[in-house]
Amino acid sequence: MADQAGDPLFHSHDPIFNRKELLHVGHVPDEDRIVGRDDEIESVAAEVGAITRGDPPNNVMIYGKTGTGKSLISRHVATRAQDAARTNEIDCGVLYVDCSEANTETRATRQLALSLKEQTEYQEGIPVRGVGTMEYYQHIWQILESCFDAIIVILDEIDKLDNSNILMQLSRAREAQKTDAYIGVIGISNKVKYRETLDERIDSSFGHRELFFHPYDASQLREIMRNREDAFQPEVLEDGTIELCAALAAKKHGDARKAIEILKEAGELARRTGSETVSEDHIQQAQEVAEINRIEELTSGATVHAKLALYALASRIITGDRETYKTREVYERYAGICELVATDPITENGLYRQLKEQAFLGVIESEKTGGGRSQGSYLLHRLVTDPKHIVKAVRRDSSLEELPTYGRLSGTESSSRAHDADLSSFT
Ligand SMILES: Nc1ncnc2c1ncn2[C@@H]1O[C@H](COP(=O)(O)OP(=O)(O)O)[C@@H](O)[C@H]1O
Ligand SMILES: [Mg+2]
Repeated sequence: MADQAGDPLFHSHDPIFNRKELLHVGHVPDEDRIVGRDDEIESVAAEVGAITRGDPPNNVMIYGKTGTGKSLISRHVATRAQDAARTNEIDCGVLYVDCSEANTETRATRQLALSLKEQTEYQEGIPVRGVGTMEYYQHIWQILESCFDAIIVILDEIDKLDNSNILMQLSRAREAQKTDAYIGVIGISNKVKYRETLDERIDSSFGHRELFFHPYDASQLREIMRNREDAFQPEVLEDGTIELCAALAAKKHGDARKAIEILKEAGELARRTGSETVSEDHIQQAQEVAEINRIEELTSGATVHAKLALYALASRIITGDRETYKTREVYERYAGICELVATDPITENGLYRQLKEQAFLGVIESEKTGGGRSQGSYLLHRLVTDPKHIVKAVRRDSSLEELPTYGRLSGTESSSRAHDADLSSFT
């Protein structure tokens, strides 16, 4: 099996990964690799399962934080229902729509129509542009009519859809005699808040049950990762790496996606640096990279001033001896930093509003504090993440990469010392 003839530029043997695909986010693991979701699997199956007996299904909405297995369990149950239906000679289609991408009714119906066509012998062409929602519905009903007894439609991240009309259309289709096929919808949302608006958005024709997926604890996260250890070559994962990875993800609300991502990133890091094993150190570094990516994503839509305000708070925390600072204190540092990057500062009030927006993003926590009778109340800001990560994330903005790397304050490099000196002159 050895590749004597291969070009040595492209190693055919990956020293770290064996089956890396097991660590891809969209990968749907086999049933025996799914951990701690038996009740959830049964609950989803109970709602849509009638389809497998040729009876009408219930619609179901699944709520829960990211990485709690909502997408995985929905796909898993839908596929099993499809198989079970087949043994009863019922043609059941499964359709998956990621509404964070297909975020309008037109896009979502287009994707439904196109994937239905893909699963069948449907001959008619379906235009990808230039036609409206109504035409896509027509194709959907026609395909259902001619090819299916039932379908399960998974609408993932449904809160990203600009309207909920698709829910109404799908749930009324039989009543409106568009099709005889039974349609079961599984809606998924990370936002429990969506639940409140859903009732206002839809009428009673979309009857549905609700399920809540809870975060995993550290031992479940360990097992989830152990079940994918064969993504790595034997003996590559050092002792304690999975435990550490699980502990880090458990702190972040028990997010299995985060855990798997960190594990994968740690493997890539090991490979890049030519290491033969994945160590706890690689896990720590990978976790930092993941956190910086997350902050960058959260702040990607923010203004330069909001980013500078975040940076100012981070730099105060790094160089100071407190965890919380008043708006005024953040503003002083911010104004100095603006000078450094040759940007005109906005007013203190403007900055105050931007900080409040950041609080909404979950990067800063701001708390109102009574300053005693004569002083009135003021806001105290704290970061909900490591300030060094904020610094790194903000510096990724190409217009802000000149900012000093305070994260290296404790380092010995002379350049960072020079930056310390810059810093003290700000305040
Ligand atoms: N119970 C579980 N057992 C095994 N893997 C899981 C489990 N729950 C989630 N995962 C994995 O974690 C990642 C995130 O899960 P996902 O279903 O996408 O979460 P959500 O949709 O709730 O954000 C996926 O790679 C998934 O395979
Ligand atoms: Mg998901």
